[in-house]
Amino acid sequence: MTVTVSVEFKAKDALRPVKRRDLIIVIDVLRCSSSIVNAFANGVKAVTPTETLKEAFALREQHSDYLLAGERKGRKPRGFDFGNSPLEFVQEVVEGRTVIMTTTSGTRALVGCRQAEHVLVGAFLNAKAVAKKAAEIAQSSGVNVSFLLAGEKGLFSLEDFLCAGAIASEFPVGAFGFSDGALAAVTAFDCAKDALVESVMKSRHAKHLTELGFGRDVEFSCMLNRFDLVPVYRDGNVTLIQ
Ligand code: MLT
Repeated sequence: MTVTVSVEFKAKDALRPVKRRDLIIVIDVLRCSSSIVNAFANGVKAVTPTETLKEAFALREQHSDYLLAGERKGRKPRGFDFGNSPLEFVQEVVEGRTVIMTTTSGTRALVGCRQAEHVLVGAFLNAKAVAKKAAEIAQSSGVNVSFLLAGEKGLFSLEDFLCAGAIASEFPVGAFGFSDGALAAVTAFDCAKDALVESVMKSRHAKHLTELGFGRDVEFSCMLNRFDLVPVYRDGNVTLIQ
């Protein structure tokens, strides 16, 4: 069977791949999915995404040992332990801990996929690893693959599109049929890959983050294949795939 690889360009369309029963790769390069990947690289036990600040605080009420991380308008919400900078998730702080995370777009995109059986978290940081795992699962379970681009406030975003291209480029040649959207992402990534930071820096959200003083987050999030790990979202939590 040929596995189809397609792209949902906006997070509001999360239900489409859920209804198709696709394996979904959620991408929010700046910065939610990069933060999640780096948190796991530094030994976090689990990440629990919530849509709202209220839900995040309620969960922390029930679990006083959980850490609270996330952002609103790019900045750490009052009362939180961390913002949403991938560089904040260092081993000394997150190892063995559960982190409740709420962000403007990324965690909403994840929660929007809660009915799906297979939901992986993709970033430039783990592009090759997530492609390999997605290909394995899709072929063994007989399902198609969709990228869900979280974007920013419901808008299409360049960095997530390029990341979909980076991941799609790593799928084994032959058994996969790419939609025009997936082909466009691969083509765009091919054009951008030799100057990835510069290309991503042109995006609206990268410029905004740089203005806020988070330029290093953008550079870090553009490191390709730094980690060989795949976070999976299931039953309300993100954990490392076994
Ligand atoms: C989001 O989920 O909206 C982003 O990760 C925002 C950010 O850059 O912190």
